[in-house]
Amino acid sequence: MNNILNKDLELKGKKVLLRVDLNVPMKDGAITESSRIKKIIPTIKLLIEKQAKIIILSHIGRPKGQYVKSLSLEPISKKLSSLLNKEILFIKDIIDVNTINEVNKMPNGSIIMLENIRFNKGEETNDVEFSKKISSLGDIYVNDAFSCSHRSHASIEGITKYIPAYFGLQISEEINALKKITSEIQKPITLIIGGSKISTKINIINNLIKKFNNIIIVGGMANTMLKHTGSNIGKSICENDCENLIKEIIKNSKKYNCNIFCPIDVSVSKNLEGKANNKDITEINNDEMILDIGPKTISSIKKIINNSNTVLWNGPAGYFENPSFQNGTKEILETISQKTNKDKIFSVAGGGETVAAINKFKKFDSLTFVSTAGGAFLEYLEGKTLPGIKALNQNV
Ligand code: 3PG
Repeated sequence: MNNILNKDLELKGKKVLLRVDLNVPMKDGAITESSRIKKIIPTIKLLIEKQAKIIILSHIGRPKGQYVKSLSLEPISKKLSSLLNKEILFIKDIIDVNTINEVNKMPNGSIIMLENIRFNKGEETNDVEFSKKISSLGDIYVNDAFSCSHRSHASIEGITKYIPAYFGLQISEEINALKKITSEIQKPITLIIGGSKISTKINIINNLIKKFNNIIIVGGMANTMLKHTGSNIGKSICENDCENLIKEIIKNSKKYNCNIFCPIDVSVSKNLEGKANNKDITEINNDEMILDIGPKTISSIKKIINNSNTVLWNGPAGYFENPSFQNGTKEILETISQKTNKDKIFSVAGGGETVAAINKFKKFDSLTFVSTAGGAFLEYLEGKTLPGIKALNQNV
């Protein structure tokens, strides 16, 4: 990572193609969550300060090379413009001669945003001609979209073959934070992992088990573990045919001396709308479902967090959408936040549902780093090389 956008780069009058991730949730044409938009502001401000000509490339949704009105970036360009308090010229056409004319007229320090890059057929196929076409719009390229860097798309990967390419501020911050939980670790280090399916997280567990001191399994995944170890989990969600995956986790935990912790008590109910009833894991009835971790489990998790120097959290502890079952998720978040503030431990959280919980409990700024990336965050934790990052590293 030698090619990071920085204060010393001379960019006055240079056309900078800036790839960001503005794939934000929307409902009835309105943005419902804007943390991805806010995160790119420092990079844009730096480029304005440097008097570059900024051409923003992004996608929203999966239009598959077709124009889809509901997936226009126009409302997002308006939101970004209001957050920056600066005009943004939005170009509705897919990339054509008009785009080139508008780019050629740009004053220094101005911003253009192009329409959803995925409306173009060559984007997702990483087409050579399309990659050349977008690269010809700019002098340099900056990737500030960590959350898209697991995609071999033209505006992420192909483009880097034709013009000088740089890491943006946000992507650099994200990679540095993730390095501190995967390679430059301060031990003791703890992973708290939840979500519904153990099969989708097995590669993360197996990659991290070698380096982590503790892995705490919560949420639906814990039900599968509990069932495997002989507990009656009633009608709780769980995955079948996971014996081999669980045996692999247990075998690796012994091999690498990693402590695996599963719930010892839980909150159950007969349905998702019900009230919480705390029970030990030996007391669950056939007509009950596990919807949260119980108080003894919370207390043990707090001790583990308080004995850690680094904490990574991915996946809520229960069905936090119903306030009766939000306690485990809320307490985990509260403990990580307090420990981060008091002892300056390194804490990272990420994943769609985890970010939703952090937003619900208004704790976005109380962890060291919150990743808004979905698939890219998980692939990085699995130890995979992300094509977008590889492409930037090869462009020096
Ligand atoms: C995301 O939301 O994870 C990124 O924007 C990538 O979107 P995609 O999964 O549609 O490629």
